[in-house]
Amino acid sequence: MSTTPLLETHGLSRTFPGVRALQNVDFRLFPGEVHTLMGQNGAGKSTLINVLTGVHRPDAGDIRLAGAPVQFSTPQEAEAAGIQTLYQEVNLCPNLSVAENIFAGRQPRKRGLIDWKTIHRRAQAALAELNLALDVTQSLDTYPIAIQQMVAIARAVSVDARILILDEPTSSLDDSEVARLFDVLRKLKASGIAILFVTHFLEQTYAISDRITVMRNGEREGEYLAADLPVQTLVAKMVGQQLAHERLEPSAESGEGEAEAAAATEAAPAPSAPWLSAHGVARRGVLNPLDLDVQPGRILGLAGLLGSGRTETARLLFGAERVDAGAISIGGKSVKLASPRDAVRHGMAYCPEDRKKEGIVADLSIRENIVLALQARRGWWRMIGRARQRELANEYIAQLGIKARDAEQPIGLLSGGNQQKVLLARWLATEPKLLILDEPTRGIDVAAKFEIMDRVRALCAKGLGILFISSEISEVVRVSDRIAVLRDRRKVAELNGHGHSEDEVYDLIAGGRR
Ligand SMILES: Nc1ncnc2c1ncn2[C@@H]1O[C@H](COP(=O)(O)OP(=O)(O)OP(=O)(O)O)[C@@H](O)[C@H]1O
Ligand SMILES: [Mg+2]
Repeated sequence: MSTTPLLETHGLSRTFPGVRALQNVDFRLFPGEVHTLMGQNGAGKSTLINVLTGVHRPDAGDIRLAGAPVQFSTPQEAEAAGIQTLYQEVNLCPNLSVAENIFAGRQPRKRGLIDWKTIHRRAQAALAELNLALDVTQSLDTYPIAIQQMVAIARAVSVDARILILDEPTSSLDDSEVARLFDVLRKLKASGIAILFVTHFLEQTYAISDRITVMRNGEREGEYLAADLPVQTLVAKMVGQQLAHERLEPSAESGEGEAEAAAATEAAPAPSAPWLSAHGVARRGVLNPLDLDVQPGRILGLAGLLGSGRTETARLLFGAERVDAGAISIGGKSVKLASPRDAVRHGMAYCPEDRKKEGIVADLSIRENIVLALQARRGWWRMIGRARQRELANEYIAQLGIKARDAEQPIGLLSGGNQQKVLLARWLATEPKLLILDEPTRGIDVAAKFEIMDRVRALCAKGLGILFISSEISEVVRVSDRIAVLRDRRKVAELNGHGHSEDEVYDLIAGGRR
């Protein structure tokens, strides 16, 4: 490893109204290393990246690239200087083709014309690096979010860059995709490229990092060699307290949620008739006929790889996609769910995985985003009063620990993990009977993750039924009462959630091939 940093900051600060997002931050990135930024939601990780790459200007401090002072005014300038960045909120164009997305802004030309043949060939090659074979002429939005994320990664790594910055690129990828990405990163690293990586997954951090910088409340807490930093110490430094290990244990609650969480584990309601029953529900080319029961007061986990049909199952049950066959009943009565509106009317709620496309409205305030689904269910002619709206918003800001100036702040200005919490609050506010959670802890920091799932379990103890989808098998195994395993768009097994190991679930997912 070289001794001169390729990228370096001194005393970097940046304030937003009411928030000191970065305070006096020193940071250095060496060629040929993977350097991971870790910290809780709102700690300043993305802001540091935004300031490094010309999205935001620093209020104070300086940035050096290979020893020379630089100040980028736009991300394009940073790109031209050899810094390739994949931002946290993937900014691709859903209605352009995969190939166009990979080469947008830098299309190879032949005699002045865009050279489509070359673009398609090179896009395919870039994806092949990640072990992905897609039809690159298809529009991007025909692929699920995780594949879109892989396309964004292909775009970032297919350029000759000196520095590659990846802000939470793996949040919706499953283990095998992460492994492919890491193979590529190791190759790039070996060729001397400096990689700045952000993740909330501790295992990933240790699998790939040479160096770790911990951020806390906008400050740099410290810089460490990964090999010298035990995981418990890392978490303690992130959350800023010695007893951090307690936060890593399930149901280790603090404060008012304690009693509720205890109730969740001790007094789980006795099994009862399913609230929702699906029989032979199917859609050609999307999902093979499937039976599922979701009981009140129980969590049904859906486990499976990307493309196994997890999200498709959720969307079919919620009426977001039409079913070709099968029957759904709610409370024992057969129902037709022709649209999400029907599903909501029956007491269902769906917290989707793609918070940008189906979730947040960036310009609306936190309050407005939280009351949106509740208001829609009541009907727009019966407006929820301002005072009640504020009360609801403040309740959830406190309950889920949403880090914001106040309820009136536009949600687009929150950190990624805090936006995710607002989305969850929106659906909790409708007090549903059945809540479908599709990757609810995507982008949520390691301490908050347990707290959020404990809150969800507490609601469950009060009779809420939950369909829980996560690409983290450990999370599915930890929280679920029952687990339905999907493979190749069909249900291949259903397990009692308690007393089965992660490995058993992996074996079923892999079809005994593991
Ligand atoms: N454009 C902005 N305007 C106002 N406040 C902002 C803006 N961007 C970030 N912030 C605030 O700065 C703080 C740091 O946010 P940042 O996005 O850097 O956090 P993060 O460490 O990336 O968190 P996460 O893990 O949730 O992505 C947060 O309080 C956030 O609300
Ligand atoms: Mg961030």
